[in-house]
Amino acid sequence: MSQLALIKALPKAELHVHIEGTFEPELMFAIAQRNNISIPYKSIEEVKQAYNFHNLQSFLDIYYAGANVLIHEQDFYDLAWAYFEKCAADNVVHTEIFFDPQTHTDRGISFDVVIQGLTRASQDAQQKLGISTHWIMCFLRHLSEDAAFETLEQALPYKDLIIGVGLDSSEMGHPPSKFERVFAKAREEGFLVVAHAGEEGPAAYVWEALDLLHVNRIDHGVRSEEDPQLMQRLIQEKMPLTVCPLSNLKLCVVNDMAEHNIRRLLQQGVHVTVNSDDPAYFGGYMNDNFIAIADALALTSEELKQLSANSFEASFIAKEEKQKWINLIENLV
Ligand code: ADE
Ligand code: ZN
Repeated sequence: MSQLALIKALPKAELHVHIEGTFEPELMFAIAQRNNISIPYKSIEEVKQAYNFHNLQSFLDIYYAGANVLIHEQDFYDLAWAYFEKCAADNVVHTEIFFDPQTHTDRGISFDVVIQGLTRASQDAQQKLGISTHWIMCFLRHLSEDAAFETLEQALPYKDLIIGVGLDSSEMGHPPSKFERVFAKAREEGFLVVAHAGEEGPAAYVWEALDLLHVNRIDHGVRSEEDPQLMQRLIQEKMPLTVCPLSNLKLCVVNDMAEHNIRRLLQQGVHVTVNSDDPAYFGGYMNDNFIAIADALALTSEELKQLSANSFEASFIAKEEKQKWINLIENLV
């Protein structure tokens, strides 16, 4: 089987994708129009031209502006459904999706509207496409600890629909320690926990995510390589890193895909996985990310299989379910 055929044939779990980051310009225009909201672009071409980022913040400014057109339950449904169709095309059979409630509640949209629209789409994805989903609610780290506590309170009635909490947005200057108490409360309430760390921020932020937030996974974490002791810890604990290659390239975390460290991390025994982060903004969904690293880093078939097996191993699905997918991967020729 060719590398491309193998990438397509591999079942995959996606563990790091922001639903607001799957908002394609075409859908953004359609929803803006039906909600009578003006957006600062004349055409889809003009939107795409604006997607030229030099760091995380330059992306986040545009990403939050795009989310402003989402108002009604149906808007959130349509957003999520469009992503599930991409999953089906890429053989992503399970996905653990971030959403940013504060991006919406701060604009006066109720938490209920957001979660109802998203979860109605994920129920349909299960029924119609056979794709399973877990939802992870992220706190925006540029906002206050109090605001995060308030968001956690709002989420409590929907505990059954949300498997975990995460931490995203502007990393520099907003270390995990800022949210130690919120994460302690979230864990007490039974949520699993993950956090973005070591994307733009230093290895010290990864240590904090491990020691203060007690995360089940690290999102990104690519800068962990700068600290050999941290590498030892990650390897020993089999701590998953949800790596996002095209995101790292677009946000200038790496200058060239050939310089990406995902293969080195894998070879050293770190539990890395491949993910799309904000695919509508970064030029590709799951398979595009696999193809980009397979080409630039000359990954072997065994490495591709390991990466997709890692995605199930690191997911929050039941043990037997993980084993089912891993066996299927091992048996692919
Ligand atoms: N929100 C959406 N994508 C993000 C990323 N890559 N890092 C931090 N926050 C984000
Ligand atoms: Zn992310």
